[in-house]
Amino acid sequence: MKRLGVNIDHVATIRNARGELHPDPLIAAKFAKKVGADSITIHLREDRRHIKDLDAKNICKIKNILVNLEISTNSSIVNKALKISPDFICIVPEKRREVTTEGGLDLKKNKIKLKKIISKFKKKKIRTSLFINPTVSDVLISREIGTECIEIHTGRLANLVKSKKKYSKEIKKILKCSTIAKKLGIEVHAGHGLDYKTTKILSKINEIQEFNIGHYIIGESIFFGLSRVIKNFKSIIKK
Ligand code: PXP
Repeated sequence: MKRLGVNIDHVATIRNARGELHPDPLIAAKFAKKVGADSITIHLREDRRHIKDLDAKNICKIKNILVNLEISTNSSIVNKALKISPDFICIVPEKRREVTTEGGLDLKKNKIKLKKIISKFKKKKIRTSLFINPTVSDVLISREIGTECIEIHTGRLANLVKSKKKYSKEIKKILKCSTIAKKLGIEVHAGHGLDYKTTKILSKINEIQEFNIGHYIIGESIFFGLSRVIKNFKSIIKK
Protein backbone atom coordinates (compact mmCIF):
# COMPACT_ATOMS: atom_id res chain seq x y z
CA MET A 1 0.00 0.00 0.00
CA LYS A 2 1.32 3.41 -0.97
CA ARG A 3 1.45 5.91 1.88
CA LEU A 4 0.72 9.63 2.10
CA GLY A 5 2.93 11.87 4.19
CA VAL A 6 1.34 15.27 4.77
CA ASN A 7 3.78 18.14 5.11
CA ILE A 8 2.33 20.75 7.49
CA ASP A 9 5.13 23.35 7.30
CA HIS A 10 2.80 25.90 5.76
CA VAL A 11 0.36 25.71 8.63
CA ALA A 12 3.27 27.16 10.62
CA THR A 13 3.91 29.69 7.81
CA ILE A 14 0.35 31.02 8.23
CA ARG A 15 0.65 31.05 12.02
CA ASN A 16 3.96 32.89 11.88
CA ALA A 17 2.51 35.57 9.60
CA ARG A 18 0.57 36.79 12.67
CA GLY A 19 3.22 35.97 15.25
CA GLU A 20 0.53 34.35 17.41
CA LEU A 21 -0.54 30.77 18.03
CA HIS A 22 -3.20 30.09 15.40
CA PRO A 23 -3.30 27.89 13.32
CA ASP A 24 -1.40 25.41 15.47
CA PRO A 25 0.74 22.83 13.59
CA LEU A 26 0.29 20.42 16.50
CA ILE A 27 -3.48 20.41 15.97
CA ALA A 28 -2.92 20.16 12.20
CA ALA A 29 -0.76 17.06 12.70
CA LYS A 30 -3.43 15.36 14.82
CA PHE A 31 -6.21 16.36 12.43
CA ALA A 32 -4.31 15.23 9.32
CA LYS A 33 -3.70 11.86 10.92
CA LYS A 34 -7.37 11.54 11.92
CA VAL A 35 -8.54 12.12 8.34
CA GLY A 36 -6.11 9.69 6.72
CA ALA A 37 -2.50 10.90 6.61
CA ASP A 38 -0.11 7.98 7.06
CA SER A 39 2.61 10.22 8.44
CA ILE A 40 3.33 13.88 9.11
CA THR A 41 6.30 15.66 7.59
CA ILE A 42 7.89 18.78 9.04
CA HIS A 43 11.05 20.60 8.00
CA LEU A 44 13.07 22.22 10.76
CA ARG A 45 14.89 24.75 8.59
CA GLU A 46 18.06 26.46 9.74
CA ASP A 47 16.30 29.85 9.58
CA ARG A 48 13.16 28.45 11.35
CA ARG A 49 10.96 30.22 8.84
CA HIS A 50 8.03 27.92 9.52
CA ILE A 51 8.37 24.99 11.96
CA LYS A 52 10.08 26.04 15.23
CA ASP A 53 12.00 23.89 17.69
CA LEU A 54 9.05 23.63 20.07
CA ASP A 55 6.71 22.57 17.23
CA ALA A 56 9.10 19.80 16.22
CA LYS A 57 9.52 18.65 19.81
CA ASN A 58 5.78 18.60 20.54
CA ILE A 59 4.75 17.03 17.22
CA CYS A 60 7.30 14.23 17.68
CA LYS A 61 5.87 13.54 21.14
CA ILE A 62 2.33 12.83 19.86
CA LYS A 63 1.54 9.16 20.31
CA ASN A 64 0.40 7.09 17.32
CA ILE A 65 1.61 9.58 14.72
CA LEU A 66 4.60 8.77 12.56
CA VAL A 67 6.68 11.89 12.10
CA ASN A 68 9.14 12.44 9.28
CA LEU A 69 11.54 15.25 10.19
CA GLU A 70 13.35 16.93 7.30
CA ILE A 71 16.74 18.36 8.19
CA SER A 72 19.86 19.68 6.51
CA THR A 73 23.33 18.33 7.27
CA ASN A 74 24.04 21.26 9.60
CA SER A 75 25.55 19.72 12.74
CA SER A 76 23.47 21.67 15.25
CA ILE A 77 20.25 20.66 13.44
CA VAL A 78 21.44 17.03 13.28
CA ASN A 79 22.07 17.09 17.03
CA LYS A 80 18.64 18.61 17.68
CA ALA A 81 17.04 15.92 15.52
CA LEU A 82 18.87 13.19 17.44
CA LYS A 83 17.46 14.64 20.68
CA ILE A 84 13.93 15.11 19.34
CA SER A 85 14.05 11.53 18.02
CA PRO A 86 11.38 11.47 15.29
CA ASP A 87 10.27 8.21 13.66
CA PHE A 88 11.88 9.12 10.34
CA ILE A 89 14.53 11.51 9.08
CA CYS A 90 14.79 12.92 5.58
CA ILE A 91 18.05 14.71 4.82
CA VAL A 92 17.64 17.57 2.39
CA PRO A 93 19.93 20.25 0.95
CA GLU A 94 19.28 23.73 2.27
CA LYS A 95 20.20 27.14 0.96
CA ARG A 96 19.42 30.22 2.99
CA ARG A 97 17.83 32.27 0.26
CA GLU A 98 15.83 29.57 -1.50
CA VAL A 99 12.04 29.78 -1.33
CA THR A 100 11.80 26.00 -1.09
CA THR A 101 14.13 22.97 -1.48
CA GLU A 102 15.35 23.50 -5.02
CA GLY A 103 16.94 20.15 -5.84
CA GLY A 104 18.32 16.95 -4.42
CA LEU A 105 21.43 16.54 -2.29
CA ASP A 106 24.91 16.76 -3.81
CA LEU A 107 25.78 13.19 -2.88
CA LYS A 108 29.21 13.10 -4.49
CA LYS A 109 30.37 16.12 -2.54
CA ASN A 110 28.81 15.11 0.79
CA LYS A 111 29.25 11.33 0.75
CA ILE A 112 31.38 11.00 3.89
CA LYS A 113 29.37 13.53 5.90
CA LEU A 114 26.07 11.87 4.93
CA LYS A 115 27.34 8.39 5.74
CA LYS A 116 28.25 9.54 9.26
CA ILE A 117 24.87 11.23 9.78
CA ILE A 118 22.97 8.17 8.53
CA SER A 119 24.86 5.89 10.91
CA LYS A 120 24.02 8.17 13.88
CA PHE A 121 20.30 7.87 13.13
CA LYS A 122 20.61 4.15 12.42
CA LYS A 123 22.05 3.64 15.89
CA LYS A 124 18.87 5.22 17.26
CA LYS A 125 16.76 3.00 14.96
CA ILE A 126 15.45 6.02 13.07
CA ARG A 127 14.64 5.37 9.42
CA THR A 128 16.68 7.65 7.20
CA SER A 129 15.89 8.92 3.74
CA LEU A 130 17.97 11.02 1.34
CA PHE A 131 16.30 13.62 -0.88
CA ILE A 132 17.92 13.01 -4.26
CA ASN A 133 17.62 13.95 -7.91
CA PRO A 134 16.47 11.13 -10.17
CA THR A 135 19.87 9.94 -11.43
CA VAL A 136 21.23 6.40 -11.40
CA SER A 137 24.55 7.54 -9.95
CA ASP A 138 22.76 9.14 -6.98
CA VAL A 139 20.82 5.92 -6.37
CA LEU A 140 24.09 3.96 -6.39
CA ILE A 141 25.76 6.38 -3.98
CA SER A 142 22.67 6.22 -1.73
CA ARG A 143 23.12 2.48 -1.51
CA GLU A 144 26.85 2.83 -0.87
CA ILE A 145 26.33 5.18 2.09
CA GLY A 146 23.70 2.97 3.69
CA THR A 147 20.41 4.84 3.55
CA GLU A 148 17.21 2.82 3.98
CA CYS A 149 15.12 5.09 1.78
CA ILE A 150 15.47 7.70 -0.93
CA GLU A 151 13.01 10.45 -1.70
CA ILE A 152 13.09 11.41 -5.35
CA HIS A 153 12.84 15.16 -5.99
CA THR A 154 9.85 15.51 -8.30
CA GLY A 155 10.08 19.28 -8.76
CA ARG A 156 11.23 19.08 -12.38
CA LEU A 157 8.44 16.68 -13.32
CA ALA A 158 5.89 18.89 -11.53
CA ASN A 159 7.09 22.00 -13.39
CA LEU A 160 6.92 20.23 -16.76
CA VAL A 161 3.41 18.94 -16.10
CA LYS A 162 2.17 22.31 -14.81
CA SER A 163 3.56 24.15 -17.83
CA LYS A 164 2.06 21.53 -20.15
CA LYS A 165 5.48 20.54 -21.52
CA LYS A 166 6.58 17.02 -22.44
CA TYR A 167 7.48 15.05 -19.36
CA SER A 168 8.01 11.51 -20.67
CA LYS A 169 11.83 11.74 -20.37
CA GLU A 170 11.59 12.87 -16.75
CA ILE A 171 9.09 10.17 -15.80
CA LYS A 172 11.35 7.55 -17.42
CA LYS A 173 14.26 8.79 -15.29
CA ILE A 174 12.12 8.53 -12.15
CA LEU A 175 10.90 5.06 -13.12
CA LYS A 176 14.44 3.84 -13.85
CA CYS A 177 15.79 5.16 -10.54
CA SER A 178 12.84 3.74 -8.60
CA THR A 179 13.29 0.30 -10.19
CA ILE A 180 17.03 0.21 -9.51
CA ALA A 181 16.60 1.46 -5.94
CA LYS A 182 13.96 -1.16 -5.15
CA LYS A 183 16.21 -3.91 -6.57
CA LEU A 184 18.98 -2.66 -4.29
CA GLY A 185 16.65 -2.91 -1.30
CA ILE A 186 16.07 0.82 -0.91
CA GLU A 187 12.53 2.07 -0.25
CA VAL A 188 11.44 4.77 -2.70
CA HIS A 189 9.54 7.93 -1.83
CA ALA A 190 8.61 10.94 -3.96
CA GLY A 191 8.05 14.57 -3.14
CA HIS A 192 8.13 18.21 -4.12
CA GLY A 193 5.69 20.29 -6.11
CA LEU A 194 3.12 17.49 -6.31
CA ASP A 195 -0.52 18.21 -7.07
CA TYR A 196 -3.37 15.84 -8.03
CA LYS A 197 -2.20 15.47 -11.61
CA THR A 198 1.49 14.73 -10.95
CA THR A 199 0.62 12.43 -8.06
CA LYS A 200 -1.72 10.49 -10.34
CA ILE A 201 1.06 10.13 -12.95
CA LEU A 202 3.57 8.96 -10.34
CA SER A 203 1.15 6.63 -8.58
CA LYS A 204 1.48 4.31 -11.60
CA ILE A 205 5.07 3.60 -10.56
CA ASN A 206 4.66 0.58 -8.31
CA GLU A 207 8.06 1.02 -6.69
CA ILE A 208 7.09 4.36 -5.12
CA GLN A 209 5.91 3.58 -1.60
CA GLU A 210 5.39 7.02 -0.12
CA PHE A 211 4.45 10.51 -1.27
CA ASN A 212 5.30 13.57 0.79
CA ILE A 213 3.11 16.50 -0.17
CA GLY A 214 2.78 19.91 1.44
CA HIS A 215 2.18 23.17 -0.35
CA TYR A 216 -0.61 21.97 -2.62
CA ILE A 217 -2.46 20.23 0.21
CA ILE A 218 -2.45 23.30 2.43
CA GLY A 219 -3.28 25.63 -0.49
CA GLU A 220 -6.14 23.50 -1.77
CA SER A 221 -7.49 23.16 1.78
CA ILE A 222 -8.35 26.87 1.73
CA PHE A 223 -11.07 26.02 -0.76
CA PHE A 224 -12.07 22.46 0.10
CA GLY A 225 -10.84 21.74 3.62
CA LEU A 226 -7.93 19.62 4.81
CA SER A 227 -10.05 16.51 5.28
CA ARG A 228 -11.42 16.49 1.72
CA VAL A 229 -8.00 17.17 0.17
CA ILE A 230 -6.21 14.45 2.15
CA LYS A 231 -8.96 11.98 1.24
CA ASN A 232 -8.62 12.93 -2.45
CA PHE A 233 -4.87 12.30 -2.38
CA LYS A 234 -5.35 9.00 -0.57
CA SER A 235 -7.74 7.80 -3.22
CA ILE A 236 -5.36 8.90 -6.02
CA ILE A 237 -2.38 7.00 -4.62
CA LYS A 238 -4.46 3.88 -3.99
CA LYS A 239 -5.16 3.43 -7.71
N1 PXP B 1 9.72 16.35 0.30
C1 PXP B 1 10.79 17.07 0.68
C2 PXP B 1 12.06 16.33 0.97
C3 PXP B 1 10.72 18.46 0.81
O1 PXP B 1 11.80 19.16 1.20
C4 PXP B 1 9.48 19.10 0.58
C5 PXP B 1 9.35 20.58 0.76
O2 PXP B 1 10.08 21.21 -0.18
C6 PXP B 1 8.39 18.31 0.18
C7 PXP B 1 8.55 16.94 0.04
C8 PXP B 1 7.04 18.90 -0.05
O3 PXP B 1 7.05 19.72 -1.17
P1 PXP B 1 5.76 20.55 -1.52
O4 PXP B 1 5.52 21.50 -0.40
O5 PXP B 1 6.12 21.24 -2.80
O6 PXP B 1 4.62 19.58 -1.68
